[in-house]
Formats: sequence, C-alpha cells, structure tokens
Amino acid sequence: RKPLSLPRLREMHAHGEKITMLTAYDATFAAVADAAGVECILVGDSLGMVCQGLTSTVGVTLETMRHHTECVANGLRRSQATAWLIGDLPFGSYQESKEQALRSATVLMQAGAHMVKLEGGGWTAEVVHFLVERGIPVCAHLGLTPQTVHALGGYRVQGKTEESATVMRREASALQDAGASMMVLEMVPAVLSAEVTQLLTHCPTIGIGAGNGTAGQVLVLHDMLGMNLGKMPKFVRNFMDDGHSVRGAMEAYVRAVKDGSFPVNATHAW
Ligand code: KIV
Ligand code: NA
Repeated sequence: RKPLSLPRLREMHAHGEKITMLTAYDATFAAVADAAGVECILVGDSLGMVCQGLTSTVGVTLETMRHHTECVANGLRRSQATAWLIGDLPFGSYQESKEQALRSATVLMQAGAHMVKLEGGGWTAEVVHFLVERGIPVCAHLGLTPQTVHALGGYRVQGKTEESATVMRREASALQDAGASMMVLEMVPAVLSAEVTQLLTHCPTIGIGAGNGTAGQVLVLHDMLGMNLGKMPKFVRNFMDDGHSVRGAMEAYVRAVKDGSFPVNATHAW
C-alpha cells in the first residue's frame, strides 16, 4: 500500500471511496490496525476513558496526548505502516488563543502526528485557518463534542432542532473554508450528517453515531472490540463477533465500512 497522505485522502473522497478510521493509543494496536487496512489512526483523547479510566475527556493533558501519539507513531514506523496519524488536541490546549493552539499542535506533530483534531465550530474556524496556513493539516469535529460535555448537559445527539441543524451546516462550511481537510461528525442525525457531507465538497466527513451518509467512519478501538468500562454506545457494533481475532475484527470493520454495511442507519432515537 502507498502511504496515506492528504492528496490520497482527497482522491478517495473524490471517488466516493469510504475512509476508515479507528482510534489507537499504543504501538501494537496501531500496527495491527494498519495491517488490517485501516487508513486513518486517531490517537483520540478518548484515551482518558479507555486508558486512564476517567469518566470524561476533560482531564486529559497535552503531555498525555504527546506520550500516546509518540507510542503510536513508533509502532507505525517500526511496522512500516502506511496509515495517516491524527493526534487529538485535548481540552484546554487550544481554546486560549491561536498561538496556544499552534504550540500544542506542534507538540503532537513533533511526536509524529500528520494532522491534529480539535473540537467545536464558530470560534475554531480562525484557529483552523491559523494552523493550516502554517502547514498543519486539521481535522474538525462537530456534533457531540465530548470535551464540552458539561456545557452540553450530557452525551446526547446534536443537531436535532432545525435551528441547531442550521448552525451546524453553517459551521461545517466555515471550517471547510478555513482549510479543515477532514471533519468528524459525532452523534448527529443521519439526515443532517448526509446533508453536511454533500455540502462539503473538499472536506470528507467521518461519522460516529452519525449514520451511513458520511464519507468515512470512525469507532473507538475498545468499543468495536466489545470492551467497555461503562455503557456501550448504541451506535457501536462489536466486530469481534465477525472477526474472531483483533486483526480479524479490524478487517471486518474495514470491509463493513467500505461496502456500506456499517453503520446501518439507526431507527431509534435519532
Ligand atoms: O477521542 C476520540 O476517540 C474521538 C473519536 C470518537 C472521534 O474524538
Ligand atoms: Na476526541
């Protein structure tokens, strides 16, 4: 396989080929995910829950993200992997100013990330533009933004009212215009995430709990392996049922995303 790159991701998007993403937090899982054909590996701040046992991502620090990003980058390098590596900017590491965001993004890029991800719309467009102008590819993240769980009042579907859907469409466009080259949509009604996907001509959407109409999909690694400390989100599928091994589960996930059989558009709640 050729190494993933921004031009390659753009090509996949243009051809309507679904983009696969999983989270990973250490060298070995990252290498196995790459070998299973996963194109993008996200060192998510979900590691706060998965690795640190926290109840939200709010307590995750930049130093922790740097450490895990480096572990994953090492694993990908050692296995001559081709995956695209995204580092999550944690809560408090980019909200203060665009200069602070650049400093934090630099830490993750120097640890081996190819792209950074940050949550939110509105004010983040200016930050995205600042980073992109300076050579840092950025993945945006709209819908449920777990770092602001306390402001949102819980882990719930976003964009259900016509008003909030309008805001999301506007924010998505602004983030694309600011130069975001990927966008996670988390817990968004399938109809709305499909609309946003159509709206964004050069920024592939990556859905999680957002239905089948996005340009790609992401899941938290431990969730799709059927392991969870808390309540399993409704939109997750346990791919160990199809896969019979970690590598097999990841391959089953890649196949299901590519052929459109995962996710099935939810009939419940949203
Ligand atoms: O931290 C994370 O794992 C994420 C994904 C769920 C998109 O942000
Ligand atoms: Na995250």
